Parts: sequence; structure tokens; C-alpha cells
Amino acid sequence: MESAIITGTGIYEIPGFTFTEKIIDTAYGSARVNVGVKDGFELAFLARHGLEHTTPPHQINYRANIKALQILGVSRVLATNAVGSISREIPPMSLSLLTDFLDFTSGRAFSFFDGGDTGLAHTNMDEAYCPILRTRLLELAPEHELEIIPHSVYVATNGPRFETPAEIRMYDQLGGDVVGMTGVPEVVLARELGMHYASVAYSINWAAGLEEEMTFVGDEMAELKQLLSLLLVNTIKSIEVLDCRCNEAVMIMHQPQINP
Ligand code: HPA
Repeated sequence: MESAIITGTGIYEIPGFTFTEKIIDTAYGSARVNVGVKDGFELAFLARHGLEHTTPPHQINYRANIKALQILGVSRVLATNAVGSISREIPPMSLSLLTDFLDFTSGRAFSFFDGGDTGLAHTNMDEAYCPILRTRLLELAPEHELEIIPHSVYVATNGPRFETPAEIRMYDQLGGDVVGMTGVPEVVLARELGMHYASVAYSINWAAGLEEEMTFVGDEMAELKQLLSLLLVNTIKSIEVLDCRCNEAVMIMHQPQINP
């Protein structure tokens, strides 16, 4: 199957699909991927934290997840990320399209190219999120009754703790718009495997220090998340050819000797 959707906190189903869980073994560990078909359209669905939300951001096996999708034949991925809002232009309850990121994660396995037999490569990140998928998401949003803010810089933190107010002030000064714990290295790994990847962030709170007390959006967002899931399916379904350069992003300096 060609298409996959990866969801974050609070999205554990895709409307209209019934899935069967598959455990896919990879050289990096196993991944649980749900596979389903609707009206002849095959879709892989991965809930990053698990369907019971048991895996914290820093423990997600991002390499196994992305490799498992590749094993299934996936080459295009649409994702969602729950975030906190740093920019006043992107308040809680709004959706924003990720256009770039700042990586503040640490200690995560963030590459398939680890030297030696696994090869050495540098991956171009000048356009980390697929421009064709992004354009299509923005085009189809209005007919799903959704408004998507077209640009946002994602700050990836390690979690599982939230940030301090001083950290948020720093991220703001550096140009970060929204903050989350799971967007990186997922996008990087997808790109290393030549996949097309885009993500829509949904904000559930003002980031630390922006309000007297941190509060989180709850059930009020249920309908929005349903519409968003539907938008992801219809977007990924609607594109036949992805005429972009995502699959040329990897510059191999030393060819891998194994293909895990
Ligand atoms: N910080 C980090 N990750 C998050 C936040 C936040 O404020 N909200 C949702 N995910």
C-alpha cells in the first residue's frame, strides 16, 4: 500500500475505516501498524503513542515505525501533531501546516544511516515537508470546513515534561511557532527513506508561560479532529503523481552494505 496516516495525541481512529493490526518486524524492532481498505483505497494507520496512548514521546520507536511503513510499500505519509501554541497567531483549537522545524530533541535514534555497514548519508532538509502534499491539504481544507494556517515552524522538544516559560521565550525568539514532542525525528526518517511527508499541527494549549496557568483543550476539539482525519484521507487519496523532489533528498556518501 502506498499511503499512510500517522496520528498523535487524541486521534486513535480514522472515520470510515476498519483496521486490522499487523505487527511488522524490522531491524530496529517491531511496529504495530493498522491496515485497512475503504472503497478500494488501502491505508496504513499508525497511532504513534499506541491506540491506548501508552508510549511516551521519547520512547516511540520512530525508526521501526517508518521502516515498517516502507516494508508495507508506503511512500506518502500524512501526519498530525498535537502542539502547544507559541505564536499568538496560532491560538489553541487552530490547525497549522508545518513548514519547517527546530530540533531540540536528544538521545533519540534519528537516522537510518549510522555509518559502517548502514552507510553514510546527508539528507537535504531545505524543504522537509512535501510541497505537493502541503498544497493539496490547503486546497482541500475549505471543503472539509477547516481553516489551516499555511505556515508554522515546529519546535521539537524531548518531553515528556512540558517546557519552562524561559524555554518558550527562547523558542519564540528563535522563530518557533508551535511546540511538540513527536515531530522529529519522524519527518527526518521518512525523508531518509525517500518518502513524501507532511503534517498538520493542532494546538491544544498555550505554551508554558503564555497564560497564568496552562490549560488544555479537551472534548471541544473532537469534531475538529474528525474533520482533520477525513481531510488527511481525502488529500492522500486525491494525488496521483507527486511531482516534487522529496525522493532526491538523500545524498549518499557511503552506500549501505546491508538493507535492514
Ligand atoms: N509542549 C510540548 N508538547 C506539546 C504541548 C506543549 O505545550 N502541547 C501539546 N504537545
